[in-house]
Amino acid sequence: MKDSYGREINYMRISITDRCNLRCRYCMPEGISCVPMDDILTFEEIERVCREAVDLGITRFKITGGESLVRLGCASLIGMIRKLPGVQQVTMTTNGVELKKYLPELKAAGLDAVNISLDTLDPEKFPAITGCNRLARVLESIRAAVDAGLPVKINTVLQMGINDGEWEQLMLLAKDHPLDVRFIELMPIGYGADGGMVSSVDLMDRIRRKYPQVQNDKAVHGNGPAVYCRIPGWTGSVGFISAIHGKFCAQCNRLRMTAVGEVKPCLCYEQSFDMRRALRCGGETDVREVLLRAIGAKPQMHCFEEREAVTEKKLMAKIGG
Ligand code: GTP
Ligand code: 5AD
Ligand code: SF4
Repeated sequence: MKDSYGREINYMRISITDRCNLRCRYCMPEGISCVPMDDILTFEEIERVCREAVDLGITRFKITGGESLVRLGCASLIGMIRKLPGVQQVTMTTNGVELKKYLPELKAAGLDAVNISLDTLDPEKFPAITGCNRLARVLESIRAAVDAGLPVKINTVLQMGINDGEWEQLMLLAKDHPLDVRFIELMPIGYGADGGMVSSVDLMDRIRRKYPQVQNDKAVHGNGPAVYCRIPGWTGSVGFISAIHGKFCAQCNRLRMTAVGEVKPCLCYEQSFDMRRALRCGGETDVREVLLRAIGAKPQMHCFEEREAVTEKKLMAKIGG
């Protein structure tokens, strides 16, 4: 269905846990407490939300975290959603640490595609950025996901003075492998507000200087806000998620729900609608009502460029990106 700005809302991001097995500072630094399991929506509750969402025209779902795969049974939830009549696509975002192990289950469940976070190829920098020494496992997972025939996108957040010098090495993953590499501008959510963002405009300049043959890529790669370019002869594409320097809100097509059932009209604002209460204490129509109210409350755009106006104070790991 359409929101009040005429945008078709057909995509929902569902966070299934606020826990993570890494500690990237901009997303989920050390010392953050997690919500108790009782507060987290059960798989049956999430399935019920998806059923109602499909009825409203939301047919594509993205499973996120925290880290999606630390929730036991993640693949079976994906299977439950994928089987619902009317569902066109279920994809997930993961840090890749446990992905290789779960790939057979995820494939069997009908997972349509996977996005894997990777901010560095440097074995020494990886623990400095993520708090853990897991680079080799993430790289193995990327390889295994590609070999399993899943569409793979790499998510890279470049941070000034930390990993921005690696843009070319990271991008080169798309040269010979059938995957896309996307550079995400650090958003001022949680510790992302501390700074260090690398602008996509500057990055594109660097790319153009080194690869003047680069071309726009208009093919559809996913449901999200990335725009893509291609270097002739390369197997994959290079994408940019530029919340600050390429505001994409006019094409917004989504709702997001946190693990505790807060349905958020927009990533930038704290406003949310309480799905858990609707599920646990409400009547027959309340789940649908929460979705309708959240769609109706979608703002025209975010205000990340005006720090004081950003009302979302939660960490990214609590929202699911
Ligand atoms: P696909 O295109 O379907 O692969 O989805 P995606 O790129 O949206 O998914 P992913 O979970 O990989 O998210 C990548 C980045 O995009 C994360 O940093 C998200 O926070 C960001 N993102 C996704 N949706 C939105 C949005 O609505 N607004 C903003 N500002 N950022 C978003
Ligand atoms: N800004 C931009 N991207 C972020 N992510 C986590 N926190 C932020 C932030 N503040 C990214 C992760 C992951 C994706 C789901 O969101 O790196 O790839
Ligand atoms: Fe939609 Fe808000 Fe994301 Fe903009 S920032 S695309 S309005 S959810």
